[in-house]
Amino acid sequence: MPATKPVNLWTSNDHARDYLERADSISHRSEGESALLEFIPPGTRRILDLGTGDGRLLSLVREELARRGHPGTEAVAIDFSSTMLKAARKRFAGESSVGVIAHNMDEPLPVLGKFDAVISSFAIHHLVHERKRALYAEICGLVNPGGVFCNLEHVASPTPRLHQEFLERIGFTVETEDPSNKLLDVETQLAWLREIGFADVDCAWKWRELALLAGRRA
Ligand SMILES: C[S@@+](CC[C@H](N)C(=O)[O-])C[C@H]1O[C@@H](n2cnc3c(N)ncnc32)[C@H](O)[C@@H]1O
Repeated sequence: MPATKPVNLWTSNDHARDYLERADSISHRSEGESALLEFIPPGTRRILDLGTGDGRLLSLVREELARRGHPGTEAVAIDFSSTMLKAARKRFAGESSVGVIAHNMDEPLPVLGKFDAVISSFAIHHLVHERKRALYAEICGLVNPGGVFCNLEHVASPTPRLHQEFLERIGFTVETEDPSNKLLDVETQLAWLREIGFADVDCAWKWRELALLAGRRA
């Protein structure tokens, strides 16, 4: 029997649109995003955003760099949803320094060069665990010395009860939660990042199942 393909609903236009409608109202996300901005190195000149959606996080990071005196930072944004790619292209229209690329992260990343910051928010948990780890290793090879990987992620709760409480707080139930989610605990992911070769690895911020996992290239 062929293995069943893991569920990932994000290529559905309705799924992507539903998310974009509620994206601003996700509890505590702006706290996590602010924490992520602190980790972006001052000398950042090139950014990669994985699972960019409509480019929300990349836009925040580029605005922060502009505030620090570096407007127009070069960036590559990756996603595989046509709705998201369209929204990201609209957001960055006229920004020649931002490339928006269609790519399924189930597959190895294309050749993109090196980056000072690889960022991602609420995207990598849609990949199976084996691919998450492989992707983290690919990312490590893409980060310049002194650069960072910052993954604002949806992680697993330690117990079913805490999972249920989290879902209630974001307006979902075990029955209605996204079947595309493949949640993994923080500890395993931090251990992977250390094994792979990142330094200063930490869970830098957390609210229930939302966590910022960050590491630096020595
Ligand atoms: C919850 S949304 C987050 C979007 C955006 N990063 C944000 O914070 O608003 C998840 C994103 O991951 C993308 N995604 C999920 N699985 C993917 C895959 N296998 N390859 C590329 N993108 C994927 C989806 O299309 C979607 O844009």
